[in-house]
Amino acid sequence: MKFSVITSTVAASLVAGVVFAGGHLAYEQRQAAMKAMGGSLRVVGGMAQGAVPFDADTLATTLATMQAAAETAQGAFPAEPDVSENSKALAAIWEDREDFDMRLQTLVDTFTTAAANPPADAAALGALLGQVGPQCQTCHQNYRQPTE
Ligand code: HEC
Repeated sequence: MKFSVITSTVAASLVAGVVFAGGHLAYEQRQAAMKAMGGSLRVVGGMAQGAVPFDADTLATTLATMQAAAETAQGAFPAEPDVSENSKALAAIWEDREDFDMRLQTLVDTFTTAAANPPADAAALGALLGQVGPQCQTCHQNYRQPTE
């Protein structure tokens, strides 16, 4: 059990590093930020399910990372269409920019609120993730190429 705690803490700090280690191209930055969110979600998802012990410090750090990553992603979708073979971003983003930006803002708001007042136990964390998961999924369905 001790090992699991260490593993999740290390994972959280690796993830925090990734946020700031994105390349300088916009698609690299948003992919690094999204990857950090994915890694963080695995850490807190394991905690919600009891696969790793609930740890308030790791949770607080990871939620702060997710907030930072969502904010980084917000700054990494340029105003002009940025579609290329290096990116899974769909042109639809720039066809309905208002909807896309609103979704990203909702995610930032969700993490900002959660980081300021982190869930106190695994059940509360599960409820938060029940809110976050569909936000990730519905945006990907509309605005990201399927990843097979
Ligand atoms: C507002 C829309 C939106 C939301 C919300 C969103 N994503 Fe994404 N995500 C995208 C887009 C667009 C891409 C493709 C980026 C690219 O390739 O340029 C992406 C890509 C990804 C990737 C692949 C990154 C890579 O390595 O190329 C992961 C992992 C990911 N998202 C995880 C998440 C998680 C986890 C959440 C929720 C906590 C989330 N995303 C929420 C739009 C969103």
